[in-house]
Amino acid sequence: MLRLEGKVALITGAATGVEGKAMGLGGATARLFAREGAKVVLTDVNDEMGELTAAQIRADGGEATYLHLDVTSEGEWGNNIGAIERLYGGLDALVHSAGVTFRTTVEETTEKIWDVEMAVHAKGSFLGTKNAIPLMRKSLGGSIVLISSIAGLVGTPSSTAYHAAKGAMRMFAKTAAVQYAPEGIRVNSIHPGFVMTPMFEPLTSNPEAVAQRLAKVPLGRMGQPEEIAYLVLFLASDESRFITGTEIPIDGGYTAQ
Ligand SMILES: NC(=O)c1ccc[n+]([C@@H]2O[C@H](COP(=O)([O-])OP(=O)(O)OC[C@H]3O[C@@H](n4cnc5c(N)ncnc54)[C@H](O)[C@@H]3O)[C@@H](O)[C@H]2O)c1
Repeated sequence: MLRLEGKVALITGAATGVEGKAMGLGGATARLFAREGAKVVLTDVNDEMGELTAAQIRADGGEATYLHLDVTSEGEWGNNIGAIERLYGGLDALVHSAGVTFRTTVEETTEKIWDVEMAVHAKGSFLGTKNAIPLMRKSLGGSIVLISSIAGLVGTPSSTAYHAAKGAMRMFAKTAAVQYAPEGIRVNSIHPGFVMTPMFEPLTSNPEAVAQRLAKVPLGRMGQPEEIAYLVLFLASDESRFITGTEIPIDGGYTAQ
C-alpha cells in the first residue's frame, strides 16, 4: 500500500521539479507524492517549468496535472479549486511551498518588499486554506502543510520581511488547526533550515556566506529537498492523523541551540 494511495494533493510553488536541474521543495514534494500514489496538482507562476515537471512525473508513471496559480490572488485560488473539484471531486492535501526571499535589513526593506513577502507567504497561506477547506470538507477531512522556515522561529541579521511573513504562517496554522479540527482538517507548519534549492543557489557563489551558515548547523551540512519532502509526506498522510496545530523544525539542529 502506497502512503498517499488515492489522495488528491495540491502543491503550490511546485515548478522546480525538473530532472537534472536544482530541485525545489515543491517540486521534490510533487515527485515524492506521485511515487506514493497521490494524484498531484502542481501549481506555480512558472508555467514552463511547471508543465515540464508534471510531464516528467507522468512519464515516470505518476498522476500529475499542472495549473497556473499565483498564490496571492484569491480569484486564481477559486479557479484552481474549481478545476480540482471538476477533475477529482475532492481534495485531501494542500502544501503551500511557493516562496520568495529578499535579504534586507529593517532599513533596507521597502514597502514593496514587505508587501510581496506578506502576500506570497502569509496571505497565500490564508487564501489557500480558506479555499481548500470546502473541498476538503467534501473529502471528509484533509491535511494542510505550510512550508514556513527557521526564519519563522528565530531571527537573523537579514531577510526582515521574510521572517515576519514566515512567523505569520506558523501562527496562522495554529488558529486554522483549532478551528477545523472538528471536521478532520489538520493544519501544521514546517520549518526547514538551509536546503540546497534554486532559492538558496545564488548564495553558493559566496562560499564564505555558506560556511557562516553551516557553522551554525549541528549536523554540519545543508539539507536536501527530498529530506524535507519526506516530512511533508508524513504530514499529508494518515500516519500523522493525531498531529495538528504544531510546528516542526527540520533544520539539522539549527534551532536546538
Ligand atoms: N531553500 C531553503 O533553504 C528554504 C529554507 C526554509 C524554507 N524554505 C521555503 O520553502 C519554500 C520553497 O522554497 P524553495 O527553496 O523550494 O524555493 P524555489 O525558489 O525553488 O521555489 C519557490 C517556487 O515558488 C514559486 N513562486 C514564487 N512566487 C509565487 C507566487 N506568487 N505564486 C505561486 N508560486 C510562486 C516560484 O516560481 C518557485 O517555483 C519557500 O516558501 C521557502 O521560503 C526554503
